[in-house]
Amino acid sequence: MSEIKNVDYGLEKIFDGAKDFLPLLGTDYVEFYVGNAKQAAYYYKSAFGFQSYAYKGLETGSRDVVSYVLKQDKICVVLTTPLNSKSNINDHIVKHGDGVKVIALWVDDATKSWRETTSRGAKSYMKPTIEKDEYGEVVRSGIFTYGDTVHVFVERKNYKGVFLPGFEKWRSDFNPEPSGLKFIDHMVGNVGWNEMNKWVNFYEDVMGFVNFLSFDDKQITTEYSALMSKVMSNGNGRIKFPINEPAEGKKKSQIEEYLDFYEGPGVQHIAVATDDIITTVGNLRARGVEFLSIPPQEYYDAVPLRLEEHNHELKEDIETLQRLGVLIDADEEGYLLQIFTKPVEDRPTLFFEIIQRMGARGFGAGNFKALFEAIEKEQEKRGTL
Ligand code: FE2
Repeated sequence: MSEIKNVDYGLEKIFDGAKDFLPLLGTDYVEFYVGNAKQAAYYYKSAFGFQSYAYKGLETGSRDVVSYVLKQDKICVVLTTPLNSKSNINDHIVKHGDGVKVIALWVDDATKSWRETTSRGAKSYMKPTIEKDEYGEVVRSGIFTYGDTVHVFVERKNYKGVFLPGFEKWRSDFNPEPSGLKFIDHMVGNVGWNEMNKWVNFYEDVMGFVNFLSFDDKQITTEYSALMSKVMSNGNGRIKFPINEPAEGKKKSQIEEYLDFYEGPGVQHIAVATDDIITTVGNLRARGVEFLSIPPQEYYDAVPLRLEEHNHELKEDIETLQRLGVLIDADEEGYLLQIFTKPVEDRPTLFFEIIQRMGARGFGAGNFKALFEAIEKEQEKRGTL
């Protein structure tokens, strides 16, 4: 149930709100299909500071699946594991490993959202379905997006219970402190060769999004690998989905590596916002979250000039940022601070970005080179470059 704040995307200039056929209130939840939800929940609590929120499983009468719901400020993560071999969730896990299945979007009317999108060509994942308990009702519906990933529309205005019907409040004796993560800033999808425009068109035509930033393979390249990226946003700017496609380079692109190991398109990274990246990253590092390697000295030597070019003054201590490996990028509106984790599962697939926006609207294009070089170092070790 994330809301975007503090950044003006100027979308009203390119987007006619009156024609928004799919008004989105925010991200509702992100659901991962995982091999062992109990252990994954422990990891996200211990390492990232997520809080126990809701649960369903054998104890609540759910015989086929178990789900742990974790929250941190506005971020809601669901970890789901099947309880037997018959569930088709197994197929997802066998094929993709642990990964994101559902990007759920918070809407006022899930029935209308489903009608508007399916009538524009979306493939249905779930027809509008009412779920009820003593706390009211939730309507959910869903459509497929890239790969096996889906969007579920969640209408919860008539519901007062914890999370969704079927779930109970999860009370735990183990409650590590939050790490300062606030809301989802953006979620990035990796799609196959020559498929980016197909998915850009999907978000434009089927979901009413606009493409407000693009990077081609000339901008996003190192000596070895390249990719192309287009950023899609809904009308109010609360939902931003950059889409990546691999591009030809001297060696294998990180996007290609992802596609090989995820065995198809899927969510590449989830960027979560903090308003104090120094405290958050210090905290995450102390809890064992692994980040990509810290860029070389030359990178940090160049930062003051990069900020000066755009007339911004860094409020944070640059030596502290360097010690933590935080990257800095600037545009006309401001600057941003960001850092990327290593993949959070054994397959080199999904990872997290921690981001603090100091007015900047971009996605760290000025850091792509440093980021790619850090990823290539890891690819080298994995023998996948
Ligand atoms: Fe990102």
